[in-house]
Amino acid sequence: MAEGSSTGLARLDGKVALITGASSGIGAGTATMFSKLGALVAITGRNAENLQKTADECEKLGNKKPFCVVGDVCIEEDVKRIVDSSVKHYGRLDILVNSAGIVELGSIETTSLEQFDTLMNTNVNNAGIGEPGSIETTSLEQFDRTFNTNVRFGSKAGPGEQCQFLERTKFTHALGRPGQVDEVSATIAFLASDNASFITGAQIPIDGGRHAMCPR
Ligand SMILES: NC(=O)c1ccc[n+]([C@@H]2O[C@H](COP(=O)([O-])OP(=O)(O)OC[C@H]3O[C@@H](n4cnc5c(N)ncnc54)[C@H](OP(=O)(O)O)[C@@H]3O)[C@@H](O)[C@H]2O)c1
Repeated sequence: MAEGSSTGLARLDGKVALITGASSGIGAGTATMFSKLGALVAITGRNAENLQKTADECEKLGNKKPFCVVGDVCIEEDVKRIVDSSVKHYGRLDILVNSAGIVELGSIETTSLEQFDTLMNTNVNNAGIGEPGSIETTSLEQFDRTFNTNVRFGSKAGPGEQCQFLERTKFTHALGRPGQVDEVSATIAFLASDNASFITGAQIPIDGGRHAMCPR
């Protein structure tokens, strides 16, 4: 989506969203898109400098300063601090976008248990963020909407491997190309909006049709 063009998405005015992994990639893109659509955002990640870059972009597009909190989603005390300080700042939370995640190198045959544990702790457990018990405030009974980006093992690609990956997407993805961050965050924004009021518990592939392919 071109910057400055209308997103064509429903507004998120007044909604309060906590976005993890907001210092990079999909989380950063979602934070800026939500800000553009009028949401109030609390953003978190470990890299303070990158988080600030996202915050500046959010403020530029949404005219509101996001609430920034640096922390590690694998550390229980950090998760508690992230959630509690965000609720304290905005008075409530409506939406959780859990985009903090890592990709680990390897296949089922070559991945170590340590790698598996690290990936699951980061991408799935998140020290229980958004689960009952991680939130002890009476201002919040339940998030209206929660989203998790995918869990996967893959390769940490160098430049040559990236070219190979791009070439392969012509066969692995039905649309013949990899996705852009905006194509993921636009789906998250739709699901967070009132237009998706009858969608719940759904798992939606945002993968250019890759899940429907069987390439050799
Ligand atoms: N991009 C894709 O093609 C794709 C496809 C399918 C699924 N996914 C999944 O979607 C998620 C996000 O992908 P992405 O492309 O946006 O990745 P990315 O650009 O590498 O961003 C990952 C984000 O997660 C944060 N993070 C990682 N470990 C963390 C930890 N322990 N505590 C707090 N924050 C942590 C990073 O923050 P810091 O750098 O500040 O630590 C960063 O903001 C990942 O789980 C990925 O596997 C991505």
